[in-house]
Amino acid sequence: MADRVRVAVLLSGRGSNMRALAEYKRVADPAYEIVLVGSNVPEARGLVLARRFGIKTWALGHQGMERAAFDRLVDEELRRHDVELIALAGYMRLLSPEFIRKWEGRILNIHPSLLPKYPGLDTHRRALLEGEEFGGCSVHVVTEELDAGPVLAQVPVKIRGRDTPESLAERVLEEEHKLYPAALDVYSRALRGESPSPSGEGLGWGLPGKSAPGTQPPPRSPPLRGGEVVIPRSLRA
Ligand code: GRF
Repeated sequence: MADRVRVAVLLSGRGSNMRALAEYKRVADPAYEIVLVGSNVPEARGLVLARRFGIKTWALGHQGMERAAFDRLVDEELRRHDVELIALAGYMRLLSPEFIRKWEGRILNIHPSLLPKYPGLDTHRRALLEGEEFGGCSVHVVTEELDAGPVLAQVPVKIRGRDTPESLAERVLEEEHKLYPAALDVYSRALRGESPSPSGEGLGWGLPGKSAPGTQPPPRSPPLRGGEVVIPRSLRA
């Protein structure tokens, strides 16, 4: 395999998705390697976990800093580690448009809803209040509009009669831990020019080129039709 894609995970909290991304190599031979875990919360539990995995960490509290100025420091740190792809995993800070433009097509996020439904916070409670039949999670490319970038993969989770936001969040999180590593792997392979899935099924999204970050056009939107779940066969268990 070509060199693994150098990934930085950005987080602000407990880091269970980061752990799933790091542990994936126990069950697969992923096309990515996590070279840095960064945070805007120096006391984030996810940083402690990352160090246990032997992954380098970087943290800086953002308080009192202008958003773009903080993001420039993040950008410098990522470039110092030759990062090629960023995986947001519970990073609770909006990124500046300047930063997103520099890393266009090179930032993925996991969101606990079936996007485009319920972007933003408090997704599970809102899904329950709406009487949805399914919650779920989505991996998407980050664009300037919050949680609105092209969706790469989704998994639905059936809502049960007695679900609370907490019980639903718990079941969705289990799916997040399976979906995110697989989606990051597929995206990394595609970045390296490997065919993302033999059938190409569900992969209507365009891919950034292999040139340096900041120089590619944004990926195209996936062929989402009427709430259809887009998940490549290669991502299914
Ligand atoms: C997850 O629910 C993820 O979908 C959302 O933030 C939460 C992060 O959890 N973006 P963890 O820190 O990975 O445990």
